[in-house]
Amino acid sequence: MLSKLIDQPNDSIEAMFVRLANDTHADKIDLGIGVFKDDSGNVPVMQAVRRAEGRLFERNLSKTYRSPLGNLDYCRRVEALVLGEDHAALSDGRIVSAQTPGAGAALRAAAELVHGLSPDSAVWVSTPVWGHQIEFFEQAGMEIRSYRYYDSQRASLDAAGMLEDLRSMRAGDLLLLHGCCHNPTGEDLTLDLWRAVGEIVVETGAIPFVDVAYQGFGRGIEADVTGVRLLASSVPEMLLTVSSSKSFGVYRDRAGLLSILLPPEARNAEAVRRKLRDTVRQLYFMAPEQGAAIVHEILSTPELKALWRAELDAVRARIVELRAALRSTIERANPGLDAGFIERQQGMFSCLPISADEQLLMENEFHIYMLPPARVNVAAMNREQSRTLAEAFAWIRAQRGASRSEAVA
Ligand SMILES: Cc1ncc(COP(=O)(O)O)c(C=O)c1O
Repeated sequence: MLSKLIDQPNDSIEAMFVRLANDTHADKIDLGIGVFKDDSGNVPVMQAVRRAEGRLFERNLSKTYRSPLGNLDYCRRVEALVLGEDHAALSDGRIVSAQTPGAGAALRAAAELVHGLSPDSAVWVSTPVWGHQIEFFEQAGMEIRSYRYYDSQRASLDAAGMLEDLRSMRAGDLLLLHGCCHNPTGEDLTLDLWRAVGEIVVETGAIPFVDVAYQGFGRGIEADVTGVRLLASSVPEMLLTVSSSKSFGVYRDRAGLLSILLPPEARNAEAVRRKLRDTVRQLYFMAPEQGAAIVHEILSTPELKALWRAELDAVRARIVELRAALRSTIERANPGLDAGFIERQQGMFSCLPISADEQLLMENEFHIYMLPPARVNVAAMNREQSRTLAEAFAWIRAQRGASRSEAVA
């Protein structure tokens, strides 16, 4: 059977990583992968994480199975971190959660659960979107619908287009939103837009599914989730996924949250909990513990929590500084160009206004690698790389000018 398997072409994300791995240039620049790097190009481990690991080790904890729903103490802490300690869904017991192997698994599990309960429901995703996100829903059999989100020509949110598209959602459709630091554009909703989206959700009967993968990377740990909290208090039902990969830097330990917020009148929380338990058990059987235990230890120990907050604040400050530096190097290398969008956008990512062909030119001429659509991980570069990127971008723009005048001649 397996000997008959025919090799399939890589998708665009995997294909980029293969080209990157095969590039032997000494100074190739990887701006593709979504991790935070320090000035030396390392992915640092937070001190709060190291200390939490030490404390867990000293306690000589069991490694027996926990349960498909994972570490529920982790769930309570992360729910409160995102929704706020005093959110009514928490105090009323209207939230049902699983600790998952990262937000990726949570997205896949949610897709499975929703498609099983409501096979006609579509999922609405932003244009552009983080490519893997579509895969999770497609694999579960869900129909994918797109809504306008980002105007790449103007490098700004297409708010009017988004609201117009969302009015076509049907009752039971899922609306996928990024809680903050939108992947891939870095362009976030204003509070007024969160409010407007909430109104459309209520009118149409669609169900928002908010993906919070970068809390603390944009404006601040609390400020990054203001919109999510607003939406959660204005819609009857909501799904939520949270990744601990980035905010705690525990990428490979695989810790995430999947929560279902039920309406105030719902009396079936236990049925929902069992459905969620069965869904994740059928997909991956049991949740991994280590990342969740670390995050729980940090969030439940005041001095570790304070240390973690300070470290995350420092990560954010570095990203803000890198964004400002990239903006000015790009503007210096491209006189007359306004690159203010890079400083305004939030979190790890922004997209350069270049085509897919020009993105390939960046690889071939400058050994700079990005994910489609020219998504740059600002948080993965140092100042030298930022200069190389600015010069490469200027070169690409000059080529455009040259080919235009050649065409005229
Ligand atoms: C928007 C978004 N959601 C979810 C994920 C998956 O995160 P995790 O590592 O927790 O699976 C990512 C990772 O890049 C992401 O960008």
